[in-house]
Amino acid sequence: FPVDRIRNFSIIAHIDHGKSTLADRLLEMTGAIAKTERNKQVLDKLQVERERGITVKAQTASLFYQHRGQTYLLNLIDTPGHVDFSYEVSRSLSACQGVLLIVDANQGIQAQTVANFYLAFEAQLTIIPVINKIDLKNADPDRVEKQIEKIFDIPKEECVRISAKFGTNVDQVLQEVVKRIPPPTAKVEEPFKALLFDSTFDHYRGVVANIALFGGYVTKGDRIVSAHLGKMYEVNELGVLRPDEQPTERLYAGQVGYVIAGMKDVKDAQIGDTLYLHKHPVEPLPGFSPAKSMVFAGMYPTDQSEYTALRRAVEKLALNDSSVTVQRDNSLALGAGWRLGFLGLLHMEVFIQRLEQEYNATVIITAPTVPYKAVLASPKLIKEYREEVVTIINPAQFPEKSQVVEYQEPMVMGTIIAPDEFTGKIMSLCLLCNRHDAGYQLAELIKIEFLLNGKPVEELTTVVHKDRAYSTGKAMCERLKESIPRQMFEIAVQAAIGSKVIARETIKAYRKNVLAKCYGGDITRKMKLLKKQAEGKKRMRLIGNVEVPKDAFMNVLKRK
Ligand code: GTP
Repeated sequence: FPVDRIRNFSIIAHIDHGKSTLADRLLEMTGAIAKTERNKQVLDKLQVERERGITVKAQTASLFYQHRGQTYLLNLIDTPGHVDFSYEVSRSLSACQGVLLIVDANQGIQAQTVANFYLAFEAQLTIIPVINKIDLKNADPDRVEKQIEKIFDIPKEECVRISAKFGTNVDQVLQEVVKRIPPPTAKVEEPFKALLFDSTFDHYRGVVANIALFGGYVTKGDRIVSAHLGKMYEVNELGVLRPDEQPTERLYAGQVGYVIAGMKDVKDAQIGDTLYLHKHPVEPLPGFSPAKSMVFAGMYPTDQSEYTALRRAVEKLALNDSSVTVQRDNSLALGAGWRLGFLGLLHMEVFIQRLEQEYNATVIITAPTVPYKAVLASPKLIKEYREEVVTIINPAQFPEKSQVVEYQEPMVMGTIIAPDEFTGKIMSLCLLCNRHDAGYQLAELIKIEFLLNGKPVEELTTVVHKDRAYSTGKAMCERLKESIPRQMFEIAVQAAIGSKVIARETIKAYRKNVLAKCYGGDITRKMKLLKKQAEGKKRMRLIGNVEVPKDAFMNVLKRK
């Protein structure tokens, strides 16, 4: 396909402003999907995504569009819609020359609109503002155009007003894509060079890597190398995404498509990596950074007999998700399990929800934690760890204060986007914080354990800042009290730092006689009730002699 008739673009938007709806309309209008599938939101495939209304895994589609007697190839590159995935968004954008920046005609510019605008602006992409939902009664496109002019310095004449829901002016969007977004500068005469911007795992064919070609071409049978990992593969299959995979013989400069090349694991297909021909090494594309887990949690089967089934499920899901890390872990209280690493909390929740929905698994998750560092003081420990500075991803293994020189915690560089009128207040709040740009910073950290009648609840062990120890201990004891039903005996709920108790709640005893309701007589009814109770027990975990419902852990760990 001639490069000058290719357009590579993404749709970016604040949540709910209509990204998926517009993508569906574009697919319909170019015949990539049938109209009957209306509203199915083809680009958002996973069940979790539909339920949460957010895009987790990017899906990409190549569309053919007729404009003034010419056929154009429009590659719509979808981006995930949450901050946990901002690296993936930036890589997807670097495969594009332009974006459609959607703004809701009623809500106007929102935080995520601004953040996305800057991502596209810094990548020097052509930005086409699209004002969506003009059909709404309260739509005020004039006001939104003025906002766009004022905040983004884009003339209001450049905005396109549409209703993605009803298809109004959506064809104009496609025309503007052709007219305003430049074709990629990739040259077919140059050696093959491609950006790997997404990957999925297929049980029959292995890793399917989505790539954008920055130069040259690639053919079935070619030997290719991943620049950062330095591994070599042979291309078994390649093709375009419409949005389903459609095999072709070759992919050329400027095109977007997929390759299957015997990569065994999505970890072989690192997002942002560069692929080139074994016989023609090239300079890798800029901007690569390996996936880095920032939130860790322990995961255990609710019932150890389900360990093997759960292990298979975890392996399968991890195969499809290059940014989750999996390590085996053993806990005295919880048995065999894993310590999992995620990009962020949302990523973690999505992973667990998928385990539950797609694999019917029930799991116990321990309190999520960031990776802390401890500078060890005790020679014995240094010898044991073979290091002076250790990274701790499991609060249960947090070394005692007497054994360390200092603790350190990871820092992030944050951006606060807010309307002008709040600037003063935000500035004064920020002045209170003592912050470094990034990296690790000295921190006063404390490990809190929670006890039920004196027995520690390992999954709740948590590490917090010294000045938050009391409030956290108190709040979690209160939540535990709310979440654990009364039992035949009194239960002491305690938070402790070492041997020092810092908070306590009491759950009063309660005699629960389920059979009392049955007025003697009906034996089958009694059996049913007893069976129901026994099933209920399966969803309990015994700590000492205290029965804790599985949900209680989730309830307690959820921050309010
Ligand atoms: P994320 O995936 O969370 O980023 O959301 P999104 O931006 O993809 O939004 P989505 O397309 O799911 O649309 C959000 C809601 O707005 C849905 O209920 C849509 O039906 C509705 N919607 C989208 N476009 C229009 C429109 O033009 N008019 C009206 N009235 N509603 C729309």
